[in-house]
Amino acid sequence: MRLFVLRKAGYNILMNYRHIFHAGNFADVFKHLVFRMCFAHVQQKDKGAFVLDAFAGLGLYDLASDQAQRTGEYQQGIARLFGRDLQNKDLQEFREFCAADFMQQKYAGSPVIAARMLRPQDRLTANELHPDDVQTLQQNLRSFDQVAVTHLDAYESVRGAIPPVERRGIILIDPPFEKKDEFQLLVKQMKEWKKRWETGCFILWYPIKAGQPIDDLYAAAAEMGLNRTWVAEFLLRPRDTPEGLNGCGLLIFNTPYQIPERVEALVPELTGLLGGSVRCFYLGASTSA
Ligand SMILES: C[S@@+](CC[C@H](N)C(=O)[O-])C[C@H]1O[C@@H](n2cnc3c(N)ncnc32)[C@H](O)[C@@H]1O
Repeated sequence: MRLFVLRKAGYNILMNYRHIFHAGNFADVFKHLVFRMCFAHVQQKDKGAFVLDAFAGLGLYDLASDQAQRTGEYQQGIARLFGRDLQNKDLQEFREFCAADFMQQKYAGSPVIAARMLRPQDRLTANELHPDDVQTLQQNLRSFDQVAVTHLDAYESVRGAIPPVERRGIILIDPPFEKKDEFQLLVKQMKEWKKRWETGCFILWYPIKAGQPIDDLYAAAAEMGLNRTWVAEFLLRPRDTPEGLNGCGLLIFNTPYQIPERVEALVPELTGLLGGSVRCFYLGASTSA
């Protein structure tokens, strides 16, 4: 495992977000379940694949910590997958993947999920800008091969990584949405990504809260016309409920085949466990095939 400390002098960053308060909540479960399914699908071919986790976080979360206990969000998330029969194979596999951690009151974040899935021909870059968190991330990934940890602004890390030499893989974009203009920033970045790697699988996570320009994000994504642009929204409450996180969405470019169908198939059981509802749709003309 390599650590690159590449940091621009004079970064003026607002970094109050701490994912530990939310680790293992419904939004994490949904994101990690779908991310894992997408990566496993990419790995069906022998050719090596690349994953960039541009907003990586800590990698592994202690659910017994004061912060996680204070919100208890994981109780309405990952904890609900345990202690009951699961019928759906993708849900069963995800629970199996989380089980050893959960028994030790731990929850694996996206970079550790990806690192554990790597085959010898695959590669992961986990990027995190928070100066303390990047150290913890490095610790949590130290035992894995083919993993690099970088300490850059996320969008800079994407710019430097695409297109990857493998020409196969996933870019995970999971910002904390602390910046008021994060949606506008995303739209601007998306256009750059298209120029650099039109066939790449990009997975974007975003919160659904009242008054956010999500329709603008969808319009911009549809206009880009990338293949198989697909959205999955998980709503716990009506999307325009004032204050709080009403749900979350995943916007995926070049969605791996069968993922939409498999996600649709697990939705009834997942929402039966976590509550809420899921709405999935293709954007633009990019339906299928
Ligand atoms: C939502 S958390 C990531 C969770 C992680 N992807 C997971 O699913 O396990 C967002 C992370 O991005 C980091 N971050 C915030 N601004 C960043 C930036 N400009 N570049 C890179 N990382 C940033 C935060 O410190 C935080 O750890």
